[in-house]
Amino acid sequence: MVSTQSRPSSSANAASGLQYIETSAEGRSPNQSLLPLTAGVNDKDHLVVGGCDVTELVKEFGSPLYILDEVSLRTACQQYQGALAKHYGGEALAIYASKAWNCLAVCAVVKSEGMGIDVVSGGELYTALQAGFDTQKIYFHGNNKSREELAQAVEIGCNVVADNWLELRTLAELAKAQGKVISVMLRFTPGIECHTHEYIRTGHIDSKFGFDPEQLDGVFEFIKAEASLDCIGLHCHIGSQIFEIQPHRDLAGVLVDAFLKAQAHGLGVQQVNVGGGLGIRYTESDDPPSIAAWVEQVCDSMTQACEAKGLDLPKLICEPGRSLIGSACVTAYTVGSQKEVPGIRKYITVDGGMSDNPRPITYQSVYRSVVANHMSAPCTETVTVAGKHCESGDVVIKDASLPTTDSGDILVVMGTGAYNYSMSSNYNRLARPAGVIVKDGQADLILRRETLEDLVRFDALPSRLA
Ligand code: LLP
Repeated sequence: MVSTQSRPSSSANAASGLQYIETSAEGRSPNQSLLPLTAGVNDKDHLVVGGCDVTELVKEFGSPLYILDEVSLRTACQQYQGALAKHYGGEALAIYASKAWNCLAVCAVVKSEGMGIDVVSGGELYTALQAGFDTQKIYFHGNNKSREELAQAVEIGCNVVADNWLELRTLAELAKAQGKVISVMLRFTPGIECHTHEYIRTGHIDSKFGFDPEQLDGVFEFIKAEASLDCIGLHCHIGSQIFEIQPHRDLAGVLVDAFLKAQAHGLGVQQVNVGGGLGIRYTESDDPPSIAAWVEQVCDSMTQACEAKGLDLPKLICEPGRSLIGSACVTAYTVGSQKEVPGIRKYITVDGGMSDNPRPITYQSVYRSVVANHMSAPCTETVTVAGKHCESGDVVIKDASLPTTDSGDILVVMGTGAYNYSMSSNYNRLARPAGVIVKDGQADLILRRETLEDLVRFDALPSRLA
């Protein structure tokens, strides 16, 4: 039995891990919390998530370990859908951008919450289908879908978000050959800039994604002439980890104009998809809008843009990834070696790194951590948390403020639900960590830890080399 305590008043030791435990989960948006909503501290001074003592989870499932809080994920799904229902006068659907974390269990949770799903490859599509998603609720994205992937989309009849001419022509040909009509959304670049890392910006004109807006007239004409293509709507996505609201508001006007243009070409469009992009809180200084506030603004701007042009409200789709799952997960590592560079810095090394979380080395992403087995210990040191890969850049957190740590301590990095597992690798032949989903004191395996045998599973050894 684990007893949890919520964060003591602000006069308590603020320079400890406890500062990350907020007083009440009531009304909080998961994307605004550093730790999952169910986080607490038990009487052993250990971090508890989903009613499970994190140090016990590591004993049972090994280290490193992705720990996914089911309540946080479900709450985020419900907040998206609740806010859409509350603030939008027309039909609406939230779909999960599964590139953030695509695996059977995550798909199953999202599906059970009634959401749709965005997939970007045959692999993500396969997983969504295995998890039982209704094809009507699957939206197939990607800027270079293969002929095989498109054929599968036509075969199963999911929605395809068409990105370019090759895709449109191939889709038309494949659908015609199978005597089918395929539902197509058109992705175009809205020409909206926002403040986020240049690698995850997509709304600007010089982007590899989607049709250039100048091409839209020609695209609409092409689709109109193809009986096998049913243009159901338009899609834009402006980028990821965005805190600003205005770019999302501006997007409504751009989408409505394109929608009217499609109608003027005689297309029976019914849906607009505003993409995802809402950011999460990785550090104390991050201040993203809540899910409810973001959705309210998206609905309001879409409603206003439609009213201004006398357009009936189309079906509104949004496709969040990070803000649904990012803050729902933590990664537990075991601390190993330490190195003091006199007068410069102290390194502590964990048993993972850029293979389970490539975000710091890719985007210079900043994370926060706590020591799960000493939650109330005061933070007395500034250390650099390094990974175990053969790369100087393999740093999980630079200048982390932590209590004194020893080898064997459990270091928990927060906010690792989005784009960690999904971008993980076997670099240096590290086996990928296990993942568990936790709820009400129960932990269930959702990703089996890779073994050494797994690592050579796809190797082939030609007999002349054996
Ligand atoms: N829709 C489309 C078409 C997208 O390309 C993306 C993300 C999303 C929705 C979901 O965006 P979100 O709500 O998660 O911001 N690996 C990077 C993020 C890449 C985002 C790719 N597209 C990272 O780790 O920050």
